[in-house]
Amino acid sequence: MTETLILRELLAAEPGWVSGGAIASKLGVSRVSIWHQMEKLRAQGFGFEAMPARGYRLSRRPRMLHAGLVEAQLKVRRKGFTFAILDEVDSTNDEAARQLAAGRPAPFAVFAQKQTRGRGRFGRVWHSEANGNLYSSFAFRPRIAPERMQTFTLWMGVTICELVSKFVPVAPGIKWPNDIVFNGRKAGGILTEARVDADQIRDLVLGLGLNVNSPPDEWPADLAKSAVSLSELAGAPVDLNRLTAALIGRVLLAYERFIEGDHVDSFAELWNRHDALRGRDVTVTAAGRKRRGRVLGVDDVGSLLLRGENGQTRAYRAVEVTVDKGG
Ligand code: BTN
Repeated sequence: MTETLILRELLAAEPGWVSGGAIASKLGVSRVSIWHQMEKLRAQGFGFEAMPARGYRLSRRPRMLHAGLVEAQLKVRRKGFTFAILDEVDSTNDEAARQLAAGRPAPFAVFAQKQTRGRGRFGRVWHSEANGNLYSSFAFRPRIAPERMQTFTLWMGVTICELVSKFVPVAPGIKWPNDIVFNGRKAGGILTEARVDADQIRDLVLGLGLNVNSPPDEWPADLAKSAVSLSELAGAPVDLNRLTAALIGRVLLAYERFIEGDHVDSFAELWNRHDALRGRDVTVTAAGRKRRGRVLGVDDVGSLLLRGENGQTRAYRAVEVTVDKGG
């Protein structure tokens, strides 16, 4: 799209200028058509400074997700990958699952400015206002054994920690299995869902909700103490479009590595780097039963390893973990 190409030229020239004539001849269109496109972009929240003899430069970008701006910042364009940004949807995970079921070629991603039925683990509500946060789902057709899904979630968790660490001055942690945390406060969550067919995962959706720019005073009261946004940690707004472009690059690469089994060597190192639970005393809850113990790490299928009060080590899968007081 011309819009994306114009943005790419302006971004490449930053903080310098680029002339309308140069863009027009590079794209093979008239200067008038460049000017028209720029007027459209202005209406979408972009600002351009114009200077005779020098041309244009970007002076303002939209705060909300913008498809052209994400596309223009993709470092690598992966063959066959497509994405859409919706103004509003029930849940990006549900939308991705519906599109997979309808046969849309994968991989693809669905983003939304706002969700009306955002979901977390154990069917919890994921608050999803149009407040500059990220609501995203990546859709794949992996044809892998269902047992690999847990390690997939953990691998994507550390991938996202690595990404997030480039945007804030504080080290992110991962609270097994799917929370992105900073000193115990949650900045993001992952919800992986799959459709299994003849003992293989047929459709796989990786959902990520990330508190990017929500102002702390707008959290619902029950979240105010336990949640944090990246902008709060960075002390300034975080560029949601740049973050989204970087996320797409990292997730697609991490997916390829996972499918090829190429992630194994780096997984343990990355998990240990970001593990927010190792050595902590926790309580795990499953089907109403509670057990206490000290976290030893994860095993090779991604289960949480806990040394119980009786000294025995057990592996846990679908449990909820809370860190004990002083743990
Ligand atoms: C959790 O922490 O329990 C997981 C939260 C996952 C939330 C994201 S937001 C985008 C995607 N769509 C959803 O409905 N949920 C995930």
